[in-house]
Amino acid sequence: MPVTLTYHGHSAFGLSDGSSSVLIDPWFTGNPAATVAAKDVTADTILITHAHDDHVGDALSIAKRTKATVITVNELGVYLQSQGLKDVVPGNHGGTIAFKGGTAKFTQAWHSSSLGVGDDRVAPGVPAGFIVRYGGLVIYFAGDTALFGDMALIGEEGLDIAVLPIGDRFTMGPSDAVRAAKLLKAKTVIPCHYNTFPPIEQDANSFAKALVGSTSSTAVIMKPGQSQTFEP
Ligand code: NI
Ligand code: MN
Repeated sequence: MPVTLTYHGHSAFGLSDGSSSVLIDPWFTGNPAATVAAKDVTADTILITHAHDDHVGDALSIAKRTKATVITVNELGVYLQSQGLKDVVPGNHGGTIAFKGGTAKFTQAWHSSSLGVGDDRVAPGVPAGFIVRYGGLVIYFAGDTALFGDMALIGEEGLDIAVLPIGDRFTMGPSDAVRAAKLLKAKTVIPCHYNTFPPIEQDANSFAKALVGSTSSTAVIMKPGQSQTFEP
């Protein structure tokens, strides 16, 4: 069945197959790229890659309002439970968790993971990515990560779409994202985590050109607020 993928800017995405919906790294409040407010989105499931503010985002308020199930790394899940979320399913690298309409498998990500609690900073667990099977599609959300060679193993899963950060500085930049795409062999690559603020400004069109020049993948550059339908 066709899946509608919506880009909410930065690393926030939505998926819908017509009978269920998923949010990934749902940062709306304070996200300069977001075109909708947290109170106006809905989800049955929320996936969170790691604890940084620009990824946890509005997960707490959205999950409390919509009763969405939150799937995230174990320690961050325990933290969210301590904040009053009941429906949290914690997992860890290599594990697969079923949700309404699909499954999410935790992958590694080379990054850090922490959040501010009062005046302190805590580090609840490790960062992750997700291989999401949904509506007949296999979609890899890399989360925040550097390039790593084991992306070749993720590529063996037969990816339709790879969602990759290209912003540089906090994640891989465009040239490493092209090298990642070579390992991942996805039909479609969607860049994210760029142009949200000045330190991660990138030219997505030149990324798309480099990608087409050296991989078999096609880039789909999405504007924040834009939706696109994908068929398996
Ligand atoms: Ni991060
Ligand atoms: Mn980030």
